[in-house]
Formats: sequence, structure tokens, C-alpha cells
Amino acid sequence: MDKTYLDKFYKKSPTERKKALVAADVLTADDFLLTHNLHLADELADNMIENYLANYELPLGAALNFLVDDKDYIVPMAIEEPSVIAAASAGAKIIAQASGFKTTISDRIMIGQVALKEVPDLTLAKSNLIQYKQDILKKANEAHPSIVKRGGGATDLFVRIIEADPEAATPVFLMVHLHVSTLEAMGANIINTMMEGITAYLEELTGGTALMSILSNYATECLATAVCQIPVHLLKRPHSNYSGEEVRDRLIEAGQLAYVDPYRAVTHNKGIMNGIDAVVLASGNDWRAISAGAHAYASRSGQYRALSTWKKAENGDLIGQLTLPLPVGSVGGSISIHPAAQFSKRLLGYESAKELEAVIVSVGLAQNFSALKALVTEGIQKGHMGLQARSLAISAGATGTAIEQVAEQLKRAKNMNLATAKELLLNITALNN
Ligand code: MEV
Repeated sequence: MDKTYLDKFYKKSPTERKKALVAADVLTADDFLLTHNLHLADELADNMIENYLANYELPLGAALNFLVDDKDYIVPMAIEEPSVIAAASAGAKIIAQASGFKTTISDRIMIGQVALKEVPDLTLAKSNLIQYKQDILKKANEAHPSIVKRGGGATDLFVRIIEADPEAATPVFLMVHLHVSTLEAMGANIINTMMEGITAYLEELTGGTALMSILSNYATECLATAVCQIPVHLLKRPHSNYSGEEVRDRLIEAGQLAYVDPYRAVTHNKGIMNGIDAVVLASGNDWRAISAGAHAYASRSGQYRALSTWKKAENGDLIGQLTLPLPVGSVGGSISIHPAAQFSKRLLGYESAKELEAVIVSVGLAQNFSALKALVTEGIQKGHMGLQARSLAISAGATGTAIEQVAEQLKRAKNMNLATAKELLLNITALNN
């Protein structure tokens, strides 16, 4: 990648940006052509969901400056919220100057569950399940032979007993968990097929009745971690009153606050998910699954807490770390059929689901870094003003050059709201005519 072509990327038009990405060797000329038709065709969309009517579009942008495990990435993000891509790119730029993100991606093991109730003898059921474990795994693998042929499949079995809760009047459940390697796929269909494939056998072995058989989106065996270490001189802003050390310490306190206060933790994690969901969505993966798993993981101690941690290194640097379950796929679902997901794959240039995870978790950490740095120094609104002003100008009805004119005046106005935007637009239109 020749990054010199990407200078002042934000100032270019969308076509200039795509051309710059070709010049920088991020996209090929064919990819450039692909961008002219990223629309989901009616026929394709009609086959994706039921009762299809039309497409609901989101802007797809590129976050710059991501250096992850010593490789440069341009990251596709599908998001409607202003400032998210700018914040990710700005955070990643500082972190790239500090040798980038280092990631650790666990084995990609997904979990399937069969819930059994009315089990007459739990001890006997448990010992049967353990005794016949290999048979259960074999049956599961027979239910989905193609994943086994490719080197994946069910690898382990665990039994959990969920005791009755008299207060909530819930019965005892015997939960059978299967651990499954789904290779490059997120694997929901693979797992669901396997779990349904072993249900009758589990009923036979336990004497219980199955309530349901389904994957768990709490993918605690598919974790991604990103770490960054930032020297304090990179934290000092030119016109800020805060020294680099103060920014570091305040940022660490912001992390501590989100650890102890769930009200703050939710907002803190929402900022992380701004980045994560946008890349997950652009990549054609199931962002609901990722969000659900992430928030459950944030509650693993019994209290909802920050997903990231920030601390001071021995040499005084700021160290950030983010870990969350990231069961994304590089194949399957809409990844191979949605044209924008295919384009995103070309733009990001990832080879495997693990590599995609590494980028996504890094984007989450960059997003969190930028948000906290702004919050504990100048506040968040200053950075948001520009795009918010543009959105208001468009909402007021401005088009073409009037958007920028209204937005500029709006930023200096006493009240930055829709009414002011409408007033300004009226004046500008009158002047222009
Ligand atoms: C806004 O979408 C996200 C933030 O609120 C995140 C945060 O407060 O950490 C800025």
C-alpha cells in the first residue's frame, strides 16, 4: 500500500477516494468498477428475506491508518452515524505511530446447546453423557459431514446443570454443550444442524425431554483481543491544556469509571460497538450475534462493565486492551452474495476469519481510545459539530453547495438546530437567487 495517495482522503470526492485507493494499490481497477454497482439486486434481495419490498441503504466508508499485527489496512465501515469513521481513523493514526495494534485470536470454537428438562436422574444422565461422549460427537459430525471433510467438526462435549430457581419458579435444566470448529464460517447452520442431529440420542441417554437445540451466541470460546501501547508524547494535543501524562491518567480513570458504573459502561461499550458493528455489517456478518455476545461478555463478572481496560505501563506509556467474542465468518451467509460485502472483503484484503477478527477488535479499541480521549479533554461535541451541521443542513432541505454554506454558518450560530438550519437556508437561497 502506498499511503501517500491517501493524503487528505477526507477532502476528496467519493470518486477521487476510490481512484486514490486504486493508485495506492489497495483496490484493483476491477474493484473500482465494482463500486459502481454495489446495489443489492431485487431478485437477490427477494431471495434473502421474506416479504421483500426494497433495500434500506447505509453509507459505506473507509477508515484509514489501521496498522494491525504489522499489516496496513483500509477498513470498510457501514454506518449512519457521523464522526465514527473519523474517530476510528484518528485513533488508529496515533496508535500506528506507536507500532499499531497487536492481537491475539483464540481458536475459533463455537458452542451449541441442547436443553433437556424433566431428567429423572441427573447423576446417571451426566455419567451416560460422559460415557457416550465419543458416540455423541460422532453423531453430531455425521449430521454435517462436509465440515468434517474440511477439517472441522464437533470436538468436545460439556454438561451443565442449571439448578431450579424457586423464586423465578424455573425447573432444573440439563444443558449439553458441544464445542464445534466451524473453520472459516460463523457456523450457525452447521451447529444448529448438528444439535438437532443429536437431540433424540441425548433424550435416549438422559431420559429427559429436549426443550430446544440451538447454537449459543455467547461465543466464549472464540475470543479476540487487541492491545495497543501509546507513549504519552502522542497523547498531547497542540492546543490542549492537558499534558500527555494528564490525558493518559484521565483516560485510565475513564476506563475505571466504566468498570464500576454500569450506566457509563453501556455508553463506553456502545462507542466500542460503533466501530465493531460497522465493520461486522460491512463484512456481511451477523452484527446482532456479535452485539449480543459482546454485551453478555461485558456482564461476565455478574455486573455489566467496560469491555476495554486502560492502564499505565511501567515506562509511563498508556496501554489499552479490548477482548470480546468475535464469531465472524469469512464465508457463508450474505458474505459471498452481497455485492457490498464482497467489495468490503476486497478493500480490507483479509485472508481468513481470524484476520478479520483481528481488524475488527482493533477498530473497537481505536474507537474507544478516540472517544475517551475526546471525552476527558475537550469533550465530544466539538469534533461532532462539522458533520452534525451537514446533517442538519440536509434535513433542512439544503442541496449541492448550499449544504456546506448552511453547515459553515450553523457551526457559528448560537443554536445549532434544525430551526436555525432552515432559517439559514432561506437566507442563503434568497441571496443565491
Ligand atoms: C457516541 O456514539 C459514542 C460515545 O458516547 C462513546 C463514549 O461515550 O465512550 C462517544
